[in-house]
Amino acid sequence: MAEVALEGVGKRFDRTPVLEDVTLTIRDREFVVFVGPSGCGKSTLLRLIAGLEDLTTGEVRIGGELVNDVEPADRGVAMVFQSYALYPHLSVYDNMALGLKMAGRPKAEIEARVRRAARILRIEELLGRRPRQLSGGQRQRVAIGRAIVKEPRVFLFDEPLSNLDAELRVQMRVEIHRLHRELGATMVYVTHDQEEAMTMADRIVVLRDGRVQQIGPPLELYRRPANRFVAGFIGSPKMNFLEVEARGDGGAGLELGLPGGSVLALPVATSGPAPRTLGIRPEHLELRVPPAEEGGGLRGEIFVVERLGAESQVHVRLDGGERVVAITAGERELVAGTPCSLHFPPERAYLFDAEERTLFPSPG
Ligand SMILES: Nc1ncnc2c1ncn2[C@@H]1O[C@H](COP(=O)(O)OP(=O)(O)OP(=O)(O)O)[C@@H](O)[C@H]1O
Ligand SMILES: [Mg+2]
Repeated sequence: MAEVALEGVGKRFDRTPVLEDVTLTIRDREFVVFVGPSGCGKSTLLRLIAGLEDLTTGEVRIGGELVNDVEPADRGVAMVFQSYALYPHLSVYDNMALGLKMAGRPKAEIEARVRRAARILRIEELLGRRPRQLSGGQRQRVAIGRAIVKEPRVFLFDEPLSNLDAELRVQMRVEIHRLHRELGATMVYVTHDQEEAMTMADRIVVLRDGRVQQIGPPLELYRRPANRFVAGFIGSPKMNFLEVEARGDGGAGLELGLPGGSVLALPVATSGPAPRTLGIRPEHLELRVPPAEEGGGLRGEIFVVERLGAESQVHVRLDGGERVVAITAGERELVAGTPCSLHFPPERAYLFDAEERTLFPSPG
């Protein structure tokens, strides 16, 4: 297995920059997830590692070896695509064996490798079938099996689960986890789904418009996002953002003016630029109905209640007109139009400056 190191990697199509100055190291046996919105360059970055695209700038090293000019087949990587890309006229066995046959491996070795992969993926009883006789989840396993038989140094996955239904996605997520442990392999996984990123990754790389926003373990990104973009991208439902006006330090901390005219005192210390945006995660807002008598918190009225069973997502319209979402216990009686107040522990607040950089909590 092997480490993957990217140094100053950039990619332009014609003259349009798609990736700029990407520098990061994926450690040996690490599971790293590239996540970001559609079009941010995730697949392109993966394809650059695979050698399916040429770099415009920078260097890619796999296991310490510079591979800029090494053919994809000689890089020791195997890629799994969203589309499965199976041959319809070949059996599952032959789909998995084809690459090894083409590479001229001996028949006994091919058989041993295919059977081992089938066993790991629990598809031994499917080896004689054609792809059309398989469910989506089974096809995806075959596609992964085709990567496993190559015994690559690095596995590259490009949104492998996005064609599957929600239940199967969760099941395959767990399977890929297990596979990672069992194979002890370096894996790079691309998704636009922050939940997949959070649950699968040792470390997440958040991309936006071809640039790395932050790299770190899931909970580190959740707790200490580097900027407003990462704060809004990691976590579901999304973080609430309120535009605020810093009223100077009232002695005990910050006083923030909200658009409705109310003032929120936050006993937290920041230095440097003035906060422009307050962020609060829905799971950190406590909903009080009727509103707290002693004042404080954010005041408004319940607007919509989305019941999910275990929890409800309550949309609240604040007195200043902004909307925020709070999570509450699922079976709580709540009626739209009811006045309420929202409260949160100050240490759970996030503050961002005019450039959308995080001021609080101070980034790691
Ligand atoms: N061969 C190409 N020629 C020109 N532009 C390209 C090419 N491939 C990708 N792009 C552009 O590069 C940008 C990044 O594309 P990429 O496929 O890497 O995005 P992505 O993050 O994987 O998005 P998605 O989540 O939709 O798959 C997009 O703006 C895309 O239009
Ligand atoms: Mg893509």
